[in-house]
Amino acid sequence: MSSDKTLYKQVIITGASSGFGEEFAKQLAPHAEHLVLIARRKNLLKALAKDLKTKHHISITLLSGDLTNPRFKSKIERYLKTKGSNLDLLINNAGLGDYGSFESANFDKLQQVVDVNISALLHITHAAIPNLKFNKGSIVNISSLSHLIPMPDFAVYAGSKAFVSSFSEALAIELEEQNILVLDVCPGPVSTNFGKVALRHGDKAEIKRPSWVKISKEEMVKETLQSLSHKRTKLYPGLGVKIAATVLAALPIIAIRAIVRRRPWS
Ligand SMILES: NC(=O)c1ccc[n+]([C@@H]2O[C@H](COP(=O)([O-])OP(=O)(O)OC[C@H]3O[C@@H](n4cnc5c(N)ncnc54)[C@H](OP(=O)(O)O)[C@@H]3O)[C@@H](O)[C@H]2O)c1
Repeated sequence: MSSDKTLYKQVIITGASSGFGEEFAKQLAPHAEHLVLIARRKNLLKALAKDLKTKHHISITLLSGDLTNPRFKSKIERYLKTKGSNLDLLINNAGLGDYGSFESANFDKLQQVVDVNISALLHITHAAIPNLKFNKGSIVNISSLSHLIPMPDFAVYAGSKAFVSSFSEALAIELEEQNILVLDVCPGPVSTNFGKVALRHGDKAEIKRPSWVKISKEEMVKETLQSLSHKRTKLYPGLGVKIAATVLAALPIIAIRAIVRRRPWS
């Protein structure tokens, strides 16, 4: 990324309390005037903001709340209307998964997956477009490599990311005339809090993360910001994930079914 301090005037990052979101805040802080950090865990957001303010003398707003709550989504919408006039980058990163069979799932958790991964992303994106249009800004949607395959025992999560990627592709075309860039980022497995949150209560089994597709959250965020500056609309971060995506996209559904039936990730 360029060393220009003011690459972005105002950046909104959802899911900024850990994992990719926290890393986006860290890597963007030297290049942004104002960060707006969104997540539920206020103590983590506060600690991150304190650290970034000290290091980079940047202005930071914390919007702490639950993205499944319609009142919190309306609060973000109001914030965008009244204080979001400089918005030039929206990173829709907050998300979660639920690992296990659909039948045995706690439906409330499945609903959370849909509410955060899909509904909140749609709501915030819709509310942000007027400001992004005015500033010729960008949207980064964090999808997943799993958008390419139906995943038994991760069915709702993979389905939610299929939605995110399909929506992002279409939106990128709708918004290109308005000079708004939409970048769909599809990471493979990366060590964050994601795996812990996806496991069900009392479940000790780890979700397998093959090392040849694995990269660090630092690399994933760096590659995303590079793709953004090159005005790309799709990213599979890391060489292993790029190869996996190319192979998966070329396979017929009959071959995909044979692979996913063996659940290579469990
Ligand atoms: N790590 C991977 O292997 C991987 C691979 C592909 C895609 N992804 C995607 O990457 C994105 C970031 O995940 P991560 O890996 O960084 O996981 P993470 O460390 O668990 O971070 C998830 C973030 O989302 C926020 N969040 C979750 N539910 C929320 C809610 N109801 N309201 C507000 N914020 C909420 C969390 O904040 P609070 O808990 O503080 O609210 C946290 O900041 C997700 O969209 C995920 O699907 C991850």
